[in-house]
Amino acid sequence: MDRPVGIGLIGLGNVASGVVRLLGDAPAAVRRRRLDVALQRVAVRDLQRPRTVAVDPGLLTDQAMAVVDDPRVDLVIELTGAPEAVEWVRAALARGKDVVTANKAMLAEHGDELFGLALDRGVDLMFEASVAGGIPIIRSLRAGLVANRVESLYGILNGTTNYILTQMTRGAGDYPAMLRLAQEKGFAEPDPTMDVSGRDAAQKLCILSRIAFHSRVTGSQIFCEGIEQVDAGDIQYARELGYAVKLLAVAKLAGDRVQARVHPAMVPADSLLANTNDEFNAIEVVGSSVGNQVFYGRGAGQMPTASAVVADLVELVQRKRAGGGTAIGDMILGEGALELADIAECELRYYLRLRVLDCPGVLEKIAHVLAVERISIASVLQKQRDLQGGSVPLIIVTHEARERQMKRALAALNDLREVEGAPRVMRIEDL
Ligand SMILES: NC(=O)c1ccc[n+]([C@@H]2O[C@H](COP(=O)([O-])OP(=O)(O)OC[C@H]3O[C@@H](n4cnc5c(N)ncnc54)[C@H](OP(=O)(O)O)[C@@H]3O)[C@@H](O)[C@H]2O)c1
Repeated sequence: MDRPVGIGLIGLGNVASGVVRLLGDAPAAVRRRRLDVALQRVAVRDLQRPRTVAVDPGLLTDQAMAVVDDPRVDLVIELTGAPEAVEWVRAALARGKDVVTANKAMLAEHGDELFGLALDRGVDLMFEASVAGGIPIIRSLRAGLVANRVESLYGILNGTTNYILTQMTRGAGDYPAMLRLAQEKGFAEPDPTMDVSGRDAAQKLCILSRIAFHSRVTGSQIFCEGIEQVDAGDIQYARELGYAVKLLAVAKLAGDRVQARVHPAMVPADSLLANTNDEFNAIEVVGSSVGNQVFYGRGAGQMPTASAVVADLVELVQRKRAGGGTAIGDMILGEGALELADIAECELRYYLRLRVLDCPGVLEKIAHVLAVERISIASVLQKQRDLQGGSVPLIIVTHEARERQMKRALAALNDLREVEGAPRVMRIEDL
């Protein structure tokens, strides 16, 4: 191609404005790579809205399909997060145009179809910005670590929940107060459900597991528990046991299947993940040749996310100049796709927190319930000082047990007369 590559941008919000800024003032490293591109069309929802970056008003349209259909547009950058984005991306790929996107929700639910379509048409669908913002984790998995079999991957993939848990760990307040603080600081949406429920992290984990394990699950198939029930007591007991509480996204090989789950977990207090604080993200990858590697940085924000979008753009343009070919489709849809393991079969260590009557024989009864399910106890912590109306907190850490057995044991503990209220439970990942 001897003319500039024609770019069509759908969206001119937070991230897209950062992309326009980077294209206008590209660092020398980008210029050296001959990023010869021309912005040909830009779609927005509201043509009247003032913009934070200068764009020729003649390029603007409020019809996203006008960008896709414009013959001068060779490559579409989708940065809206709109539910209709899947239609625009499908249409762009079908017309033989490469696409760059940051839309994790779209990829988590429609990835199979869209990557298949890209492969079929011989074009690319690039998505570095969809997981962990500015951290180049997708590129690292598909290129830098290509000589490894990924054995496991642990991520702190959601900045909102990490900010809330960090503040709770510092003793700044309980969950409702720290959620409000996160909203005031702009780290949480007015409707925080996607973040605090773990769904946002599950969508990102789904994308990572596609590359690391060729798994073809959708985001909604991934087991997911949020942080809404974590309280100051759990965080305090975690500290006493030598752990920190994080919303952890885990994908790991389990025989010929892959486990993929998102839930609050206790991780060793001296681990890099436990020390990933505030709105930062981190991903620990265990590879067959490299061992453990941790990627750490800003998982969101205008310029970190724009940096990932421009990295995809540079790679695509370079490939076009070199005569084409696709980067990811065959890797993502290739041979050896792994099925999802049943969460009930996962074997993990657990933290149990019970309120029990302060009378003889209680510990024996609880140990018996666990023994029936063949769950063995690693340690017990009894807090006499917290005596309230004749009951005390009892903290139990178990050795590895199957999730299915732990569920049954919890139901049985709940039925014991000596146990007050529902037992609380948290999974432990020793990393
Ligand atoms: N923000 C981050 O830190 C971050 C990090 C990682 C990934 N992402 C992803 O990046 C994408 C963009 O996020 P953002 O924060 O930049 O969002 P944003 O600031 O809300 O911007 C969205 C843009 O899309 C435009 N838009 C929405 N619906 C449209 C429609 N039907 N037709 C044409 N244009 C439409 C909006 O137009 P108007 O301006 O006219 O309203 C706006 O310019 C999302 O998929 C998000 O999940 C964001």
